[in-house]
Amino acid sequence: MRLLLLNAGPVAMMAAGDCNKPLVGADMGDRESLVAEAGLGLLSESGIITRIDDSKSLEDEFGSVDINGSLQVVDCASRAIIPGFVDSHTHLLWDGDRANEMALRQSGLSYTDIANQGGGIMKTVDATRKADLNRLLELGRKRIARAATFGTTTMECKSGYGLSLDSELRLLKAIGHLSDESLLDIHPTWLGAHDFPKGVDTADYVEELINEQLPEVVEQGIARWADVFCEPGWYNLDQTEDVVTAAANAGLPSRLHVDEFVDGGGLALAAELGTVSGDHVGYSSDNARAAANEAGTMQTFLPGTPYVLGKELESPVKQCLNNEWMFSLATDFNPNCRSLSIPFLGSLATHRLGLSPIEALAAVTRNPATTLSASEHDGTLGSIRIGGRADILILDSEYVDGWCQMPGDNPVASTIANGIIVKS
Ligand code: NIG
Ligand code: FE
Repeated sequence: MRLLLLNAGPVAMMAAGDCNKPLVGADMGDRESLVAEAGLGLLSESGIITRIDDSKSLEDEFGSVDINGSLQVVDCASRAIIPGFVDSHTHLLWDGDRANEMALRQSGLSYTDIANQGGGIMKTVDATRKADLNRLLELGRKRIARAATFGTTTMECKSGYGLSLDSELRLLKAIGHLSDESLLDIHPTWLGAHDFPKGVDTADYVEELINEQLPEVVEQGIARWADVFCEPGWYNLDQTEDVVTAAANAGLPSRLHVDEFVDGGGLALAAELGTVSGDHVGYSSDNARAAANEAGTMQTFLPGTPYVLGKELESPVKQCLNNEWMFSLATDFNPNCRSLSIPFLGSLATHRLGLSPIEALAAVTRNPATTLSASEHDGTLGSIRIGGRADILILDSEYVDGWCQMPGDNPVASTIANGIIVKS
């Protein structure tokens, strides 16, 4: 099937330079090299962008009406176009409800206090263990559909609310099913080391992770990365290193939760171990940030989490820009931070963290794509270019900047994933 987009407004190609590499520093916001002027048309064939040309020329060549079964034509009516969003950190699958925790926080309890009282991750684990495969699929389908309406076309999805061999495998199996049936591009991560199950000795659980869960995950080929919640009170540096090293030896690279509440040395360790990314990184030291950049470890900020916790956003993105350190932004969708909206994140990034709309766009498209691309489509996600995947958003705005300027509303008029209109 071919899809022809005509009369585009400005197009944020985000394709300057080597698309296998993230944009950093001034290049991140360089409108001239990243955004094309209005008047283009785009053709996608079998999910790949094959032509980007003057709209009039494409219309002369292909016409402006649908040809049943072979060509679908969309008139963009001068609305702006940007790449589909790449959400590189989500806890997509879990059951239960923790909406009661806001009032607990307002009564003075911290995230850790709530966890110690039986709330937090372990409460979600109890509910999620009771969910069978069908229930997980039902939850996942609804959430993926919602993410797609907000413009997400690529998504990393973690397990981590099972914390036992059976339930972690069930979560990853569900993510695999969702990936097979969805038009969105879904990438699974094994997060067995999200917390310690109740009543189990911590050293024994680390043994279980390394000697039972990891071999099964690798054998079944159901995850692309390992993840660990490396934070004082959860996994310490030694335990994190043990899991990451075992995973690497088994052929699984890692992306880690680090320095969410304090600088626990997590990003420094991530850099030392050469993980794909270090996520949260709110409290990491400058030395660790520089080392991460040197090691090729992406800093992924998740400002939605401190936002819902009622804290400062702790995301020194301007400092990253000034130092030319690569960074991304992601939702961290989880039971505590229930937003799958990248445009909402864009509002935090521009209205609160001081990024320009184009810098923020690079942080949710091209940059996270470099941490997710599988070898068969390296560099083809997160930008609009010939040979790239046709993951394209038509905005409800004549400016590409419109993607992040409607907090609480949805600026995405149409989502096209793999050349197919999933929201119009
Ligand atoms: O990334 N911090 C660890 N994991 C999740 C939150 C987990 C939860 O509260 O359920 C996060 O924020
Ligand atoms: Fe997370």
